[in-house]
Amino acid sequence: RGNMIVAELAKLLHKDASEVIKKLISLGVMATINQELDIETIQLVASEFKVEEVEIKIPVEEDDFETVEEKDNEEDLQSRAPVVTIMGHVDHGKTTLLDAIRSTNVTSGEAGGITQHIGAYQVEINNKKITFLDTPGHEAFTMMRARGAEVTDITIIVVAADDGVMPQTVEAISHAKAAKVPIIVAVNKIDKPDANPDTIKQELTKYELVPEEWGGDTIFVNVSAKQRTNLEELLEMILLVAEVNDYKANPNKRARGTVLEAELDKGKGPIARVLVQHGTLKIGDAFVAGNTFGRIRAMINDKGRRLKEADPSTPVEITGLTEVPKAGDPFMVFEDERKARAISERRSIKQRQSQMGANSRVTLDDLYKHI
Ligand code: GTP
Ligand code: MG
Repeated sequence: RGNMIVAELAKLLHKDASEVIKKLISLGVMATINQELDIETIQLVASEFKVEEVEIKIPVEEDDFETVEEKDNEEDLQSRAPVVTIMGHVDHGKTTLLDAIRSTNVTSGEAGGITQHIGAYQVEINNKKITFLDTPGHEAFTMMRARGAEVTDITIIVVAADDGVMPQTVEAISHAKAAKVPIIVAVNKIDKPDANPDTIKQELTKYELVPEEWGGDTIFVNVSAKQRTNLEELLEMILLVAEVNDYKANPNKRARGTVLEAELDKGKGPIARVLVQHGTLKIGDAFVAGNTFGRIRAMINDKGRRLKEADPSTPVEITGLTEVPKAGDPFMVFEDERKARAISERRSIKQRQSQMGANSRVTLDDLYKHI
């Protein structure tokens, strides 16, 4: 269904349907009373009638791809890498831990790579891949972190043994619990003379994170990111949890995922780092990301390599966007660019409507800005 049919537009403009049809014909659009009109045509007709404001309501359920239920047949599902988010209080050592994991597992030819703004990496241990997301520790990223938990299969809560449970530790625990994902606690900085891992364990029991040796079921690993102590043990625990849960996705369909980060790059234009969660993303794919759309021009992985395809659990940097989407925006591939564009337009109008409240009036100026 289109945005509106001729009869509806006529009603909106307080005109007879026949007048609208005549106007459409004069504009070169052969229309009937039940003809669906796109936003551009609606706006054109409205401006021809010199109508300053048009009330346009788009039913929220239509084309809202966030609510589209995905049903895959069991036989189409294949194992995928677990997506592990590293969370915790500022300076507790999240990035250092991930760097240590990466540098012990990155093969020599792959070391270095491009500068990463986002911490989204894939490492391979014993032929098994793990995708890691590093979440920055400051306020501005709280929202992304909240969404981070939604793209996550497993959460690692990093707690510095010399500092203890802090506000963002608690926040991270509640995000992980809300997302109902398994938690692994990495008690970090155990190399420090004042480190006291048992105090951390004690403190965390208040949040129902009880270590196995105390009768609970939370996995705790004492590590030192700096001295690379017990990293293998931590990785083994991640692979164990992944094995138990056997994360799967269908790689043989159009890709769907989440924008992790996006920005305007001086050379490349709008770029986004996305996590593919379903299907396989390919060069040339038309997509919608939040309220924006585009066509995949190039994909680069976390090692700076160009990819032709990205399967589930792969984080990639994409170019080919028309605008900069937002971190946390859903991402989805459509059959062609025309469809992607139409959906992104609807999504932006819908968003504006919800911002202005239901039944709000959208002026032609507003429409122009978005068409
Ligand atoms: P934000 O991203 O700002 O939230 O911080 P972060 O959690 O990523 O911490 P980061 O890895 O940046 O580490 C903070 C400081 O702790 C750095 O100076 C690290 O060198 C230090 N650090 C991290 N891990 C260890 C560790 O195991 N032992 C010691 N002694 N220092 C560590
Ligand atoms: Mg960090």
